[in-house]
Amino acid sequence: MKYVFGNWKMYLGYDESVGLAKDLAGQNFDTKKVTLAVFPSAISTKSITDELKNSSFMVGAQDAMWIPHGAYTGAVSAQMFKDIGCTYALVGHSERRHIFEEHSDTVRKKLEASLEAGLIPVLCVGETKEDKVADKRQYRLKKQLMSAFEGLSLSGRKLLIAYEPVWAIGTGDACLPEDAQDVIGWIKQEIMQYHLGEVPVLYGGSVTAQNVLSFTSILDIDGVLVGGVSTKKDECISLIRSVCS
Ligand code: PGA
Repeated sequence: MKYVFGNWKMYLGYDESVGLAKDLAGQNFDTKKVTLAVFPSAISTKSITDELKNSSFMVGAQDAMWIPHGAYTGAVSAQMFKDIGCTYALVGHSERRHIFEEHSDTVRKKLEASLEAGLIPVLCVGETKEDKVADKRQYRLKKQLMSAFEGLSLSGRKLLIAYEPVWAIGTGDACLPEDAQDVIGWIKQEIMQYHLGEVPVLYGGSVTAQNVLSFTSILDIDGVLVGGVSTKKDECISLIRSVCS
């Protein structure tokens, strides 16, 4: 079984999101072969959980505030996403870390709050181009993993990781599958010290219907987190069909 998760980012307005969800709900996918989820914008989420209720898809939050309720203008909490039927929450996506300047302590709070609310967090980690050029990929990932996991107790709750090199996101320059395999294998070793049990690790960054199999055919890569392509109905469907083939 492989995970195929679609991060719709801020690409789709409300009507477009509902339209895409209706199209996806009408498709039959073999859920023994794929676990599917979409991550719509906050304003569309309730309608999307309704649209996808009896489909192969689950729904997740793109970002969630750690405090359940209160005076936090503009925020939506992990608990609120859970209450409207979400299953997952992205945590620490590179766009949150870089554009919204989310630091590791914020990422940690969001990770814990998602678990607390009963959501399955998908912790996103990845190095920048500068890190890669300076041979600091492992250094960066080690720091991100340590600040997220040191002292964390899952108590049987689930968690996923998405390895998304920043330079591969939205650039068309996907990581070489064998590099992604090496890094994901390394991440799985690295997190053993945190005693989290089995943690699936996905690859993300310029995944397309054409290249998806080069990632998902690798044993260590448990699935993909797809951005742009997941918002395009035909490409998205053909990507999922490839993974199921
Ligand atoms: P992309 O985005 O597929 O558009 O590169 C991936 C992501 O940001 O999760």
